Amino acid sequence: MSHAYHPLFQTWSPLLLSAAVAVLTLNTAQAQSSSEAATSTNAHGAVQKSLFGHLPDGRAVDVYRLTNANGIELQVTNYGGIILSLKTPNMAGEFDDIALGFDSLEAYLSDEYRQANPYFGAIIGRYGNRIANGQFSLNGEQYTLASNDGNNHLHGGQQGFDKVLWQAEPFENDEGTGLVLRYTSEDGEEGYPGRLETEVTYTLTDKDELVVDYRAVTDKATPVNLTQHSYFNLKGEGNDSILDHQLMLNAPEFTPVNDTLIPTGELRSVDGTPFDFTQATPIGERIEQDNEQLAFGGGYDHNFVLARGNAAADELVVAAKVWEPQSGRMVEITTTEPAIQFYSGNFLNGDLTGKQGQTYGHRSGFALETQHYPDSPNQEAFPSTILAPGDTYRSRTIYRFSAQQDFAP
Ligand code: GLA
Repeated sequence: MSHAYHPLFQTWSPLLLSAAVAVLTLNTAQAQSSSEAATSTNAHGAVQKSLFGHLPDGRAVDVYRLTNANGIELQVTNYGGIILSLKTPNMAGEFDDIALGFDSLEAYLSDEYRQANPYFGAIIGRYGNRIANGQFSLNGEQYTLASNDGNNHLHGGQQGFDKVLWQAEPFENDEGTGLVLRYTSEDGEEGYPGRLETEVTYTLTDKDELVVDYRAVTDKATPVNLTQHSYFNLKGEGNDSILDHQLMLNAPEFTPVNDTLIPTGELRSVDGTPFDFTQATPIGERIEQDNEQLAFGGGYDHNFVLARGNAAADELVVAAKVWEPQSGRMVEITTTEPAIQFYSGNFLNGDLTGKQGQTYGHRSGFALETQHYPDSPNQEAFPSTILAPGDTYRSRTIYRFSAQQDFAP
């Protein structure tokens, strides 16, 4: 299957970009002057925009509420491209918010949150996951990035793409409703080479899918590994642990790590290990086993290598399916990426309070982050994450939501 991009996103025409900025400015001005939410609807659903709050430097931050024809609702802010909430039906048709997060901008900006740094719902860049010792060399030059995870660089640094303000442009097309987010990361930002123009598009379709498209271009070679860091609890956010969720990963191998969660370089078969999710298995079934890799991660926090067979690089393959027996909710993830990080929420410890006033306890959400392997800039045998000038980084991941009685294969 080839990409079906909205025609607007197929080029990086400066004219289109400035037109988009002009439209955005107009919308912002309208929303602010009337103090009312701007709403537009089509046959599929609606996009509603309202003010979320202000950054310390005074810039306004918005929240966009997207709905589809079946009543699924997605709320996204242009701060970090964060998915704030996602309401989907259970088997009885009752809607719950299944995404961990907060309902105020202040909560995302608080010291408490920034210290815990769970990256709830955010776009991660330039490099999702870890780069060993915050160092890599490229074309004979040595680059030093921030070490924000012990000695390692994690999720783009001190102020990664999860903590910047994106330009946002809502749209409607034949597939559904959506939001295009654009951010230009300047040459040298967080230590990375090259000026990187990035575009992430969320589309909520009437087939109950959330389609995430990533594109980027650069003027110097640079590592790029974008991902989405939503945590889900399919019982509804704040509703206990996710250990009873059943998980299938289309991954015969994973990349074992050292005690700082940097891959050793080995691709290890999951066969006979607690990492074998090739058949649907409850997340909690083997998580407490005496296993060195589980001990390093405090549970699952590992990169799984997807069975892509002969699929072309731009072809979607099934990466994961998660099903929760009580609600019957299922999420199925397909991607063009070669791998997926499965993180079982091991660092959540009850310190953060969510949207309904519940605390987010240990393993109360899971993240499945489609991506290239961690530390690829230092591991020649791994698929390359280097984007060259003149090339376009493209990646697509689709999350499809449903509710059903059983975990159907
Ligand atoms: C990723 C990492 C984890 C952790 C979370 C955020 O999943 O692999 O180790 O940093 O993000 O807490």
